[in-house]
Amino acid sequence: MPVFPRLLRGTPATLARLARQLRAGELVAVPTETVYGLAANALDARACRKIFTAKGRPADDPLIVHIHSLAQLSQVAEVNAAALKLAKKFWPGPLTLVLPKKAVVPDVVSAGLPSVAVRMPSHPLFRKLLKLAGVPLAAPSANPFGYVSPTSAEHVRAGLGKKIRDILDGGPCAIGLESTIVDLRDPRRPRLLRPGAVTRVELERALGVSVKSAPTPGRARRGAQLAPGLLARHYSPRTRVTLHAQLSPSAAGRSSPREAWIFLAKPADLAGKNIFWLDARGNLRGAARRLFATLRRVDALGFDRIHVELARGEGLADAINDRLRRAAAK
Ligand code: TXA
Ligand code: MG
Repeated sequence: MPVFPRLLRGTPATLARLARQLRAGELVAVPTETVYGLAANALDARACRKIFTAKGRPADDPLIVHIHSLAQLSQVAEVNAAALKLAKKFWPGPLTLVLPKKAVVPDVVSAGLPSVAVRMPSHPLFRKLLKLAGVPLAAPSANPFGYVSPTSAEHVRAGLGKKIRDILDGGPCAIGLESTIVDLRDPRRPRLLRPGAVTRVELERALGVSVKSAPTPGRARRGAQLAPGLLARHYSPRTRVTLHAQLSPSAAGRSSPREAWIFLAKPADLAGKNIFWLDARGNLRGAARRLFATLRRVDALGFDRIHVELARGEGLADAINDRLRRAAAK
């Protein structure tokens, strides 16, 4: 008797079996270069409903549809020239495009919206699985709704273990933050809905027009249904999080051992069971990659409060700080 959930290596036989299961309407947790996803056949409403149940996700929060080819893009969405430009430049990769939806995509996927979010991921195992499945796969992050996103197969097991059977283990996620989402319904007025590893400046350069910034967490209004997932509070540990523009090693050193301190870079001459950092040298890519794993690890240690240092600069720093602001929101 296998013990569920199973962590599976991506052998050809396993990938073929998982592809069959997906086509038959079952859920499979999958690795992507951003975060792990909980996948179902995007053209099967019944299968996609299981995602909402497993995650405890409200039905008004739409899913991202993952594709293997540009042919699948035009299968699910009305494509425009701006979308093709970005697809050519950034796919496969951590960019999601919001476009007018085609009728084959069930309403449960788009939460009733006339648009659909589409992404072509680059993780080699997920790409193989998409190809074998032969259908687009809807997949939100594979975590219980509202908690920190998973960046390893072990995180998925810890969060959804009782709700799912199969987790395809593709190792730790290379990027570690969810994809950038850009709304291209009106290609002349692209809007950033969620910052990620593809930056606003890169999008502007590729499109040749300005791209409106993502709303600051806390000010995004749910009722507007622009990006319903842009809740002020999201990606949140259970422990209270307090953000700081800069952390002082001496203040951290003098603090109560019940308070945790997460620095961006390794602080010099400071050590302790309550001292953490995202990247030894403060490199933003490394910090992004380890952000969620660090928040989870520190959350599990049961501190009274977690102090976190915000990233400085633009681009990837915006994406890191966006997630931190949501983690800290009340
Ligand atoms: O990197 C990622 O994007 C990961 C991996 C698994 O691909 N997926 C992910 O999915 O982060 P999720 O469900 O956690 O976040 C999807 C976001 C939500 O905030 C949702 O509101 C937004 O995409 N979204 C989906 N469809 C939309 C639409 N039609 N219009 C606006 N926003 C949409
Ligand atoms: Mg999510």
